[in-house]
Amino acid sequence: MRSHYCAQVTEQLLDQQVEVSGWVHRRRDHGGIIFVDLRDRSGLVQVVFDPDVGAAFEEADRVRNEFVLRVKGRVRRRPEGTVNTELATGQVEIFGEELEILNRAKTPPFQLDDDDVGEDVRLRYRYIDLRRPEMQRRIQTRARVTRELRRFLDDKGFLDIETPTLTRATPEGARDYLVPSRVHGGSFYALPQSPQLFKQLLMMSGFDRYYQVARCFRDEDLRADRQPEFTQLDIETSFMDEEQIMGLTEDMIRELFKSVLDVELPDPFPRMSYAEALHRFGIDRPDLRIPLELVEVADLMDEVEFKVFAGPAADPKGRVTALRVPKGGELTRKQIDDYTAFVGRYGARGLAYIKVNSVAEGREGLQSPILKFLPDNAVQGILERTGAQDGDLIFFGADKAKVVNESLAALRVRLGHDLGLVEGAWAPLWVVDFPMFEYDDKDQRLYALHHPFTAPQVNDLDQLKAAPEQALSRAYDMVVNGTELGGGSIRIHQPAMQQAVFQLLGIGEEEAREKFGFLLDALEYGAPPHGGLAFGMDRLVMLMTGSRSIRDVMAFPKTQTASDPMTEAPAPVTEAQLRELNLRIRKHPGV
Ligand code: AMO
Ligand code: AMP
Repeated sequence: MRSHYCAQVTEQLLDQQVEVSGWVHRRRDHGGIIFVDLRDRSGLVQVVFDPDVGAAFEEADRVRNEFVLRVKGRVRRRPEGTVNTELATGQVEIFGEELEILNRAKTPPFQLDDDDVGEDVRLRYRYIDLRRPEMQRRIQTRARVTRELRRFLDDKGFLDIETPTLTRATPEGARDYLVPSRVHGGSFYALPQSPQLFKQLLMMSGFDRYYQVARCFRDEDLRADRQPEFTQLDIETSFMDEEQIMGLTEDMIRELFKSVLDVELPDPFPRMSYAEALHRFGIDRPDLRIPLELVEVADLMDEVEFKVFAGPAADPKGRVTALRVPKGGELTRKQIDDYTAFVGRYGARGLAYIKVNSVAEGREGLQSPILKFLPDNAVQGILERTGAQDGDLIFFGADKAKVVNESLAALRVRLGHDLGLVEGAWAPLWVVDFPMFEYDDKDQRLYALHHPFTAPQVNDLDQLKAAPEQALSRAYDMVVNGTELGGGSIRIHQPAMQQAVFQLLGIGEEEAREKFGFLLDALEYGAPPHGGLAFGMDRLVMLMTGSRSIRDVMAFPKTQTASDPMTEAPAPVTEAQLRELNLRIRKHPGV
């Protein structure tokens, strides 16, 4: 039903007969002449219906927005003054000679060019929402990205191998989605949080290089860059070390950006240790486009009587830092109050500041509610270390390190955007040298920072057991513009080491056997050294298309409450289905 896609109808086709099919984007009646902007996945073309061509004109009179049409006509130049330079087809129009209405449409629940439609409505009528040219562009870019990545990996000898969706729990730190088994009443499959264990087993089977565009399921709190089901480009290799894996995947991302966006990313990507990232930016995924850094000032505070600072300065788990904001002196009281409320969301109990009017005047040139608490050497030290200049403002965070890091890291990004300080378009980096474990004060136990299959940098079991909190892992994360795009590690391939790590994580022998017995067994039958990583495809496409949420690059995402307004999933099931599954719903869910 077409000779061309709409956007292909350009000057090259002048005077030719074409046939296009698509949706009515807009219909305008201009005193006896009808204009229809016809839309398909490629874009728009203008079709003109003149009363001289009777039958087509009469049909055109009946069409409304979102009707589906097939049009035949001749391409002609648009009259002077009506050229639209924003459209690929803006120099020409189709003079409509034949029009067939293939289907009618009710008035859509929202205008496609209305930017102010609530997300619930958009998702309820997602099939219409996806017709919007920008959604078309995003989803098409996504397909292109997947294609390029597959091509890269295929060319490098990677095998695309599928792994099960109905499986057992894979520990990536989120809650599992469970599927009841009918045949085995009372037993459940878990949907994979990632193909982690299967891809390791594939290495033990000798496949050497594996990849998969894999759907992962995680029942966790949702955010702009988190969905309950999402897609990973999952990779695993044997006999490669972290340098080689990082090198290869970095090449892959560089080639991808070049071919899809014509962007040259740095070669190589900069690297930063986890410790340095936390020290300078308060976070392990710093947005390096923002030129603001945290500066340690705890040691200047020993003699300060101001408890807010002195307390955390003396606490080994505390942190006192300064964040210099160039030209921040222009911030109003109201803005500072807003930022104070903002950091409050991350647990900060306040946001002390000093306005720097004149560095040369020393204390006299400063303005701050906390100035009276600070002795001269502290003031001098703060000015020197932050490199403060006239007109700047210095914010302070003082609390447990975790609170200071989380609140000031978020403030740093917010200030960067609010004050227009973002430099450059793309800032990729590798974060390396993660700790193996993180001690949780509340649960009084160690947690794996990555996952429990990540190899430590030390190979010595006794050394690891003696000081687990000091141990670094062979993990690496790729961060782009403050988003964790992907992460992975070299894995443990020695059974003794795997057992030791389980032990340190408080996973007893019995529990390890029951949950991961198959992995422990497999490690005994010739496991090669192996490692890999996984990229978040949704996040990658979100960044590459400049979208604000991963929901905008998924055809059918879920809402913030993990539901789908279109299919109304999740939904109750019938009593009969429950019985078949040996399940009974509690009268009062959650009690
Ligand atoms: P990780 O848990 O870091 O590693 O996940 C890898 C990447 O997946 C993306 N991601 C998500 N994207 C959208 N919604 C989510 N809820 C979500 N959770 C994670 C992120 C992240 O960097 N098996 C390991 C990988 C490995 O070690 O090879 C894993 O899953 O971009
Ligand atoms: P207060 O003594 O509570 O009136 O606080 C004096 C100043 O210190 C105010 O500007 C507070 O915002 C700030 N402040 C209080 N607690 C903290 C904290 N934990 N970190 C940084 N600044 C704080």
